[in-house]
Amino acid sequence: MAQYDSIFKNATVVNQDGEERWDIGVRHGRIAALGRFNGDADEVVDCTGLHILPGVIDTQVHFREPGLTHKEDLETGSLGAVMGGVTGVFEMPNTNPLTTSRATFEAKIAAGTNRMHCDFAFYIGGTHDNVGELAALEKLPGCAGIKVFMGSSTGSLLVADDSGVEAILRAISRRAAFHSEDEFMLEERKGLRVPGDPSSHPVWRSPEVALSCTQRLVALAHRTGKRIHVLHVSTAEEIAFLADHKDVASVEVTPHHLTLDETAYERLGTYAQMNPPVRDRAHREAIWGGVANGVADILGSDHAPHTREEKDHPYPGSHSGMTGVQTLVPIMLDHVNNGRLSLQRLVDMTSHGPNRLFGIAGKGRIAVGYDADLTVVDMKRRETIRNEWIKSRAGWTPYDGVTVTGWPVGTVVRGKTVMWEGELVTPAIGQPMRFSESLPLKP
Ligand code: DOR
Repeated sequence: MAQYDSIFKNATVVNQDGEERWDIGVRHGRIAALGRFNGDADEVVDCTGLHILPGVIDTQVHFREPGLTHKEDLETGSLGAVMGGVTGVFEMPNTNPLTTSRATFEAKIAAGTNRMHCDFAFYIGGTHDNVGELAALEKLPGCAGIKVFMGSSTGSLLVADDSGVEAILRAISRRAAFHSEDEFMLEERKGLRVPGDPSSHPVWRSPEVALSCTQRLVALAHRTGKRIHVLHVSTAEEIAFLADHKDVASVEVTPHHLTLDETAYERLGTYAQMNPPVRDRAHREAIWGGVANGVADILGSDHAPHTREEKDHPYPGSHSGMTGVQTLVPIMLDHVNNGRLSLQRLVDMTSHGPNRLFGIAGKGRIAVGYDADLTVVDMKRRETIRNEWIKSRAGWTPYDGVTVTGWPVGTVVRGKTVMWEGELVTPAIGQPMRFSESLPLKP
């Protein structure tokens, strides 16, 4: 019997803290050897000229199952993930029915296992009604934690008031994730939406709306002594404010807030409409500042597919959200090639960061004993992103026609090559991720 199931040879292996010209030996789905070593393997994959990153984990996607599967489902969403080099996702609870109970959560785990193409964890929605169950729910195997919408977006999940959020924070012990836009201000400001003009979206959902909510949320975290994760931070003001509150707050930023600006509304119309909105370039540059100075911890795509028909309604009837899971890696590699961030910092935000913040067991680093989740990339390859390449059921990307340098050429999940050179080469093997805060006890 060969010593290793596979060896990935001659790659530049990148972790958050450095890179080396190493080989990776894989056995039973885990990394068994790293460095220059001798040994035989059933399969040797020559990765000369390629970089291997720890499997990219997209910590915010909406895959719409159950209930909204005309937009996406767990299979199509995760197919897009692996085609784009993503090996794991945290998926959101604004489904129909909402993912707010043990039964709805376990149904998703069952629906995803060996049907999703990448590994996964599901958030459970926190509400006024399920607060008494959250302590038990957040510890269920495969749960990424509790997600709270403080401002309303797609679906009916909403806890707008401080006392509701405080009750949730008091009930739980893990880091919880928040959509932070002030619902009361959103209600008051609805008149600022200009019919037919999606560029009024960031006027309605203004920087003040986001900052007000984030300030309230941080105060509640301090009062309760709990950790919060602020999703898709979109303003200069929040980056500055959160810099003073890293004791309780972790920060997610998105590729679209780092890439698009106010000109997107002219080009894309309602296809640029997102919550929180794409804003002007001053905010975009401030978010890059957060990437550079470390205030931003992780990157999530907020993949939020809607059909063309739903996007084509005249604003504000058009749905908020765009696809992103498949384009996260190419768009960010292009930013690396343009000198916006280092490859190591990208790995810090897409692999090591999720491990550090959420305690994912055995994922997020290329290290012996960790799952052999690998994102294999060609930093020199130039490709043009096309709608036809997008596997999402929605079938479109805001980056259609954009040429990037840097491309994912392989996706390896627990030692199995799932995608190679744009082809799906292993049937769906997705499993729930494990978390250090809810590991089953061994006798
Ligand atoms: O634009 C958005 N769409 N933002 C969210 O937070 C939710 C998402 C969706 O589910 O469509």
